Amino acid sequence: MPCQYPALTPEQRKELSDIAHRIVAPGKGMLAADESTSIIAKWLQSIGTENRGKSKANDDGHSSKVIKDKGGIVGIKVDKGVVPLSGINGETTTQGMDGLSECCAQYKKDRADFAKWHYNGIVPIVEPEILPDGEHNLKSCQYITVCQYTLAAVYKALSDHHIYLEGTLLKPKMVTPGHACTQKYSHEEIAMATVTALQQIVPPVVTGNTFLSGGQSEEDASINLSAINTCPLHKPWTLTSSYSQALQASILKTWDGKKENVKATQEEYIKRATAKLLKASILQVESQELQPESLCL
Ligand code: 13P
Repeated sequence: MPCQYPALTPEQRKELSDIAHRIVAPGKGMLAADESTSIIAKWLQSIGTENRGKSKANDDGHSSKVIKDKGGIVGIKVDKGVVPLSGINGETTTQGMDGLSECCAQYKKDRADFAKWHYNGIVPIVEPEILPDGEHNLKSCQYITVCQYTLAAVYKALSDHHIYLEGTLLKPKMVTPGHACTQKYSHEEIAMATVTALQQIVPPVVTGNTFLSGGQSEEDASINLSAINTCPLHKPWTLTSSYSQALQASILKTWDGKKENVKATQEEYIKRATAKLLKASILQVESQELQPESLCL
């Protein structure tokens, strides 16, 4: 049956795919600084700094120009967060969808190239988040990652909506045991479980996986990403980071809300952003002979 939706032109496809490739170019990762104002308020409170309200940059797009001029790529948070869905216990719905297409067209003109939604030349970063809370072990997390509630549902929905996968990035959580799980796993076991899960469901044409840190410590998030990249399994996509907490926890402490700490904070940020590269060579030497284990429960 012919597709009833307007297809992207070859130029539009190329643009999306080029942006996605540039975001995950070798050695590159992302800083995810798109927390809601309420989360930022909590972070600022933790260092005794006042939250002055909305996080709207008041610089006429100057910061996005600075980032672009330095070769970076700018993304934007386009939704307005979630609110409880009336009548259903515990379910939420996303705000800010009205007029999203027109908003994205304007954001594109203002130099944004990616977001967590897709429209008008904006590369969508698709993020199915699995929370790390609970006692579940590594195998349960692997199963939940690929099952019909998570990645399988995501790729069914993307297919239903005729999304051009080459112009998308996936932002998954690594397969890790729950925070309250008593069993300990090596970085190599986490890497094998993660890549095996992705292999089962993420199409090879998807340009890259940009992991969130998902409650891991900064150290674990760096070492696990290195283990994922060095594990001896077929990886048809680029695998990199799009961390928020695992990149911002120490820099927040270093900054401590004080102007005189800005330089030290910038240095701490560079240290964290490059940590994964240092760990990669160590893991290559220590890598064990683990076998992937697919799950069919
Ligand atoms: P974490 O790295 O803290 O899990 O958050 C990632 C994220 O999606 C923020 O937008």
